[in-house]
Amino acid sequence: MFFKLFIAAAALCCTAVLAEVTSYEGYKIYDIKPQNAAQQEILQQLAESETYDFFTQPRVLGLAARVMVAPEEQSVFEQTLQASEIEYQIINENFGETVATERMQNNFFRNLRSSNERSISFSAYQRYEAIDAYLKQLAADYPSRVFLKTIGKSYEGRALRTITITNGDGVSNKKVILLDAGIHAREWIAPAGALYVIQQLVENFAENAHLLQTYDWVILPVVNPDGYEYTHTTTRMWRKTRKPVSTNCYGTDGNRNFDFHWGEVGASSYTCSDTFRGRTAFSEPETQALRDLMHTLTGRATFYLTLHSYGNYLLYPWGWTSDLPDTWRALDEVAQAGYDAIKAATGTVYSVGSSTNVLYAAAGGSDDYAFAAAKIPISITMELPAAGNGFNPAPTRILELVSETWIGIKAMAEKVIESY
Ligand code: ARG
Ligand code: ZN
Repeated sequence: MFFKLFIAAAALCCTAVLAEVTSYEGYKIYDIKPQNAAQQEILQQLAESETYDFFTQPRVLGLAARVMVAPEEQSVFEQTLQASEIEYQIINENFGETVATERMQNNFFRNLRSSNERSISFSAYQRYEAIDAYLKQLAADYPSRVFLKTIGKSYEGRALRTITITNGDGVSNKKVILLDAGIHAREWIAPAGALYVIQQLVENFAENAHLLQTYDWVILPVVNPDGYEYTHTTTRMWRKTRKPVSTNCYGTDGNRNFDFHWGEVGASSYTCSDTFRGRTAFSEPETQALRDLMHTLTGRATFYLTLHSYGNYLLYPWGWTSDLPDTWRALDEVAQAGYDAIKAATGTVYSVGSSTNVLYAAAGGSDDYAFAAAKIPISITMELPAAGNGFNPAPTRILELVSETWIGIKAMAEKVIESY
């Protein structure tokens, strides 16, 4: 009881993680390990209070939850944990320094001239403009195999551009693999992963021609460019879109905004929340564009893959219920192919299962919608690794992470291509 009141008060007084933050000076990151159901419950309430930024949700007992806490919240936060004898560890004493270092490194590497000006470099996280320019460069360099399409505009007016990659044989109406990334702004490694897939399929065509024999790939590398740019210019840990939703708060969680069991679980109705579901389903131009793209591919698309970070998960429906879809074995088989290939190649281990069962319940995700509404039979969310640094894998680790990811994606694609 005490905690309910206490947390409610904390939620009213402070919205530290929700305001515009630029420096993160003095922000600490905690790993918290609940040891019993009571401690788990308290953690759950802390997560729901919206006062703290939970990078991972406290779901599985014995598994640490990771949370970022602003300087002015830290003493209350620590007292709360101590009062319930919840074990915690400070894993980052000053997240501001981490962000500053990351920006410096990233700018340095981005400004280095790449050896191949027509390609894209994986030694830095690229800005939206550079990503878009790369797509245009590919369309110009490979006009028989690469086609661009603007499927919509973000709230701030950026083009939502897909790249369709073919083998150039001119056969239309092939089956399709649909890939996207960056619906969550801060998950920088995800758009990088999509770019690497693009580079492999287009620039390394000879080696990957078998993936384009009976299939075209349609890729939207940055679903939420406004949020993505905002994480580069202003608030590194921004997750949502950028359309204002109330007097003080901006943005909707794109992955809670799809109209399938919308808002039922794991999504907030509070506009300032990081998991705000939107005032209505499909309230965002970005999710509308992705929805429409999915529907235009119904019947052709057999595999929808959406890239997120972090935590090494291969997730399939459902995200809204712990029940499994009838065809879960088919989904599991494809995810397992990705798991096996990655483990064999690098030893990296992913967790495979339904979103609700291995992560947490959250309705309104693009994966559930693609599967249920757009009738794409294989639908998977891939949470890329953190390289020990959450949403901030060092720029020097990008290439290693995205090439490992590609091994998993290729294996899943091969499984889908042989089965459908
Ligand atoms: N980390 C992702 C998110 O919170 C997982 C999404 C899994 N899919 C789902 N429908 N819940 O958005
Ligand atoms: Zn995400």
